[in-house]
Amino acid sequence: MARIPDAFIDDLLARTDIVEVIGTRVPLKKQGKEYSARCPFHDERSPSFTVSPTKQFYHCFGCGAHGTAISFLMNYDRLEFLDAVDELAKRAGMEVPRDTQQRNENSDTRDVYAALEAAAKFFHKQLAGSDKARNYLDGRAVDAETRERFMIGYAPDGYSALKDALGTDERRMKLLDRAGLFSKSDNGRVYDKFRDRVMFPIHDRRGRVIAFGGRVLDPEDSPKYLNSPETALFHKGRELYGLWQVRQANSKIERLIVVEGYMDVVALFQHGVMQAVATLGTATTPDHAELLFRNAPDVYFCFDGDAAGRRAATRAMESVLPRMKDGRQAFFLFLPDGEDPDTLVRHEGASGFDVRLRQSMPLSEFFFNELSADVNLATLDGKARLAERAKPMLAQIPDGAFGDLMQQRLTELTGVGARGSAPQTHVPVQRVQRGNTAATPKRSLVRSAIAFLLQKPSLALALEPPYRFATLHQPGIDLLAEIVSLVRARPDISTGMLLEHFADHEQLPALQKLASHSFPGEENTLQAEFLDAVAQLERQTVQQRIDELQQLQREGGLSAEEKDEMRSLLQARLAS
Ligand code: UTP
Ligand code: MN
Repeated sequence: MARIPDAFIDDLLARTDIVEVIGTRVPLKKQGKEYSARCPFHDERSPSFTVSPTKQFYHCFGCGAHGTAISFLMNYDRLEFLDAVDELAKRAGMEVPRDTQQRNENSDTRDVYAALEAAAKFFHKQLAGSDKARNYLDGRAVDAETRERFMIGYAPDGYSALKDALGTDERRMKLLDRAGLFSKSDNGRVYDKFRDRVMFPIHDRRGRVIAFGGRVLDPEDSPKYLNSPETALFHKGRELYGLWQVRQANSKIERLIVVEGYMDVVALFQHGVMQAVATLGTATTPDHAELLFRNAPDVYFCFDGDAAGRRAATRAMESVLPRMKDGRQAFFLFLPDGEDPDTLVRHEGASGFDVRLRQSMPLSEFFFNELSADVNLATLDGKARLAERAKPMLAQIPDGAFGDLMQQRLTELTGVGARGSAPQTHVPVQRVQRGNTAATPKRSLVRSAIAFLLQKPSLALALEPPYRFATLHQPGIDLLAEIVSLVRARPDISTGMLLEHFADHEQLPALQKLASHSFPGEENTLQAEFLDAVAQLERQTVQQRIDELQQLQREGGLSAEEKDEMRSLLQARLAS
């Protein structure tokens, strides 16, 4: 993947005002040095979301959300990192640096997108001209608004409708081919892949057409649905049909409902259930699970009530378990015989469908039902079998309350895993409160120094290299040294910019937490406390070296040089 130079990200953030970026999306109110608002990432009545122009950083005291202008766009506009960078660069009038080969690839890719868009428009226009196709959609009661929203179209019969309309020059032909819109016969003749089908364009997260699904009109024809092949732009296992439309229709997505078919998504939308997405005729992959939860905290999976449906549900369960961080919930809804969401919402309306969703099975229940379906829990052997099956799966759940409670439930059912005597009784699920509401734990010196720097990076300018403390054997010291050097290299760096340097660092969450902290008191106090922390670290470094040399001395004596060093260290210790 393209790696954008850190220096560019620095410049980009330096030229971006986070207050403006957030302000165009969320109404901000000035309060002292900062701005506040009701948090866009969780429900609340009184504002606990703050944006700091000096730190170039946002933070919510309620839900703990925080980050820079880049992460705000990633979370709020739900963009990928590179897309968020593109977006900010456009605002700032900067060009994202990419090497030339990549630039060519990029412009090629852009042209494939354009070709796909042109094809979608072509199909959509053909729909108006085809009685047969319009009758089909009328017959399935798809209204005009829905046809527009999903840009439904029609690929005419014959072998070259698209080719004749769009493939007029060679390069365009190539692009359409790369987009997966043509097939090739044995003798090398190229012809339209989609013929005499109702066309459903598949959009990516940013609303670009990346593929199509085409349905036959005649029930005798097969296959019923034909999908675009996998291309550079389209990977079935990573896309969700309808996600773009869900994003357009909801400013905040409370839930996503996963169904199987194009027509299910379309019908649910038309009846007002505008949070439906479909996997494209494949099982729910781990990529799907991540994408789903990145967009909504609650995910409902709808399956047929038959054996195939249960198998599909089990696959989905396996894909979501490793993604079940606290605050996320998954539910399973099994449909009555002979119904799919399309027919159900037509029979029962949005409210009927909602009732079913509310009665759907939580993941925890489905998990234990499924795993103990063929097990007799009244016997010791049955309990052992359940425990054996469940353990590796539970181990995949990320640390947190949900995992703990699942473990507890297993213990209740089997007695396995209980510490001491009796199995524990069921404890109600509580949402874990994030953010720094609790009393701040006592920090180590290193952490304090880092916290001060994140508060006001320019504090580091008071230090002169070489930094003696950098050799101290303490957790976090490398990080501290790195931050100090970054600030020296770029004296005007903001907290937000600093954090972007550590975007891939395992300590990022800890850094973000420290950055969100607001220290009371004057700026002078901050500086004094920072310098004091560093001075203490320096003293510890001196002591550490003295200890090392003394150890050497005991083991076999010191060289003349080491003796000199020892003397000056002892002096330094006296002086400090
Ligand atoms: P269904 O056969 O359940 O389709 O397949 P459906 O959505 O209810 O279709 P209608 O109502 O008859 O129009 C569910 C999904 O499985 C994929 C498609 O994505 C479809 O929407 N599928 C199905 C295929 O990819 N190929 C097929 O031949 C059939
Ligand atoms: Mn159907």
